Amino acid sequence: MTTTRGLRDRTEPITVLTAYYALTARIIDPAGIDIILVGDSMGTEVLGYEDTLPVTLEEMTHRTAAVVRGTDEALVVADMPFLSVGVDESETIRNAGRMLKKAGADAVKLESGPHTVEITDRLTQLGIPVMAHLGLTPQHVNQLGGYSRQGTTTEAAEEILSLARAHEDAGAFGLVLEHVPSNVAARITEAIDIPTIGIGAGSDCDGQVLVSTDVMGLSESQPPFADQFGDVEAAMTDAVDAFREAVESGEFPAAEHGHVEERVDLE
Ligand code: KIV
Repeated sequence: MTTTRGLRDRTEPITVLTAYYALTARIIDPAGIDIILVGDSMGTEVLGYEDTLPVTLEEMTHRTAAVVRGTDEALVVADMPFLSVGVDESETIRNAGRMLKKAGADAVKLESGPHTVEITDRLTQLGIPVMAHLGLTPQHVNQLGGYSRQGTTTEAAEEILSLARAHEDAGAFGLVLEHVPSNVAARITEAIDIPTIGIGAGSDCDGQVLVSTDVMGLSESQPPFADQFGDVEAAMTDAVDAFREAVESGEFPAAEHGHVEERVDLE
């Protein structure tokens, strides 16, 4: 069973994948993935939104509960959706608490910045484990003007390093580093004791996270740093085509799919 404390002592790379419902959790969990992240990437990956901003707390709670029902061993981390954190302290605490109390998650992830240091401290004091997330934070897409690499100047990289330290001091149990230069991620990994989980951040992080639809070959477009490890879309398309053809040709349903032995008399 993965625990937030146990992660610190890990010597092997930590594996993290996203899941958005029980079906995928039931595949990912027995495969030995350490952490299942119910990412707000569900907005683009399974809910059909343009970006992650419209994802609601209700959707996140509902999906996280489903993932928890499909998971026995992995640590389940629920992403806090846009504007569910930071507007007001007590509301933030209630929203994050709901992910543990109502959905059954083990921890929450906050897209982080200077505004999340204090709240990370408060949440961890209250018993809500926090995973921080620095570098490219997609909820800031309108400010960033796209999904470009972050920390590409010395000043910007220093800012990420200092925020990484601040979130470690505030009690975060781990840190996602998204789309930053590999040497910046390596330097941060060396500088802090909590595990870093990279996505587009090179191989020197303590672990790696990818969006499961990218890994499985189910996403419409992949970021340059992701890789496809299977072609589930092709397998699903084959199954759907085979069903349609079997119905159209009269091969399905065959006698064994019905209840021919059970005859009901009709007038
Ligand atoms: O929402 C998400 O899936 C994420 C990962 C890409 C880290 O935040």
